[in-house]
Amino acid sequence: MTSDYNFIKACWRQPVDRVPVWLMRQAGRYLSQYKEVRAKGGGTFLDLCKDPARAAEVTIQPIDILDADAAILFSDILTPLEPMGLELDFVPGPVFANPVRTKADVDALVVPEDMATAVSYVPEILQRLRVAFAGRVPLIGFGGAPFTLACYMVEGQGSKDFASLKQMMYSDFPLYDELMKKVTEMDRRYLNMQIAAGAQAIQIFDTWGGLLAPHDFERYNLPYVKNLIDGLDRTDIPIIYFVKNGGTMLELVKAAGSDVIGLDWHVNLDKARAILGDDVAVQGNLDPTVLYAPKDYIEKEVQRILDENAGRPGFIFNLGHGILPTVPPENAIHLVECVHRLSQK
Ligand code: CP3
Repeated sequence: MTSDYNFIKACWRQPVDRVPVWLMRQAGRYLSQYKEVRAKGGGTFLDLCKDPARAAEVTIQPIDILDADAAILFSDILTPLEPMGLELDFVPGPVFANPVRTKADVDALVVPEDMATAVSYVPEILQRLRVAFAGRVPLIGFGGAPFTLACYMVEGQGSKDFASLKQMMYSDFPLYDELMKKVTEMDRRYLNMQIAAGAQAIQIFDTWGGLLAPHDFERYNLPYVKNLIDGLDRTDIPIIYFVKNGGTMLELVKAAGSDVIGLDWHVNLDKARAILGDDVAVQGNLDPTVLYAPKDYIEKEVQRILDENAGRPGFIFNLGHGILPTVPPENAIHLVECVHRLSQK
């Protein structure tokens, strides 16, 4: 568990010479360079995900432009659902032409034996990136948490409450359980494939996990995500679990067993760390809209978060959710510079 990367050291709660920082969705539309590469191919967002040369290029952009301390694979949480049998499109939000609603739909879902073949572009991108980075920054692989993936599979698109999945969950638990077990097994194979292909950390995005009341999270989400994390080939590979709106049930989020807990901005970092204890690292938690504020305001917010962390080891600076597409890039650059400067030992 030794590494020269501040990001990996922070994941293992080891001392760092400055706080590492990266931004969720750091490759994306707020960067004109991303839009250029996307336009260059002429295709869709999915085409970009499946073009290893261009996907690797946009993964590297925020490292060069922002000086972020970690890179994250350019892909989407929903792409590994295609080989399960779902027809995915982005319009620009995700849409499945054939949502999973009935027992026949769940039975028909394929759990590919070999995810390296099923989504061959993913290991190709990771391998290219390890060569391109040559030790410069660590590479994060990722997937959606089973519950969040199931939200999209059953609803067939984005939603405020994902009531279709919750209806299945409350009214037909055996069907829900069958679906969740299949998604969890696909996810386990998918993330282990990313580790085998060179991912040096894994983040599990549970964007919709916070839609569940704590007792429902414990019953309908935790067993599957815990199973997933338990099944990862994680020797030396830190696992980050990010539950949006998970701040009111941190004990349950911790019980999933990750090495790092991602926090959004609805929870105070100091209070979260008091609940979580010092045997787990944390990542977060700036409100993404602060990147619309003047530069001196951004700097004060960085200082506030660093003060809340109070120099404790095991801290990675990030936004509390993805960077927004209309953020001025110079503000994101300024944010990273502030974290580095204000935390320098
Ligand atoms: O962080 C990174 O830089 C890596 C890339 C990444 C994307 N999606 C690229 C993307 C990651 C880690 C994701 C995760 C993802 N995708 C999540 C979990 C994290 C979160 O933000 O909550 C979810 C829920 C999705 C599903 C998804 N993909 C939605 C709802 C949308 C449409 C909304 C939007 O932001 O446009 C996408 C599309 C998407 N995924 C884009 C990018 C860069 C925009 C596509 C484009 O270029 O037009």
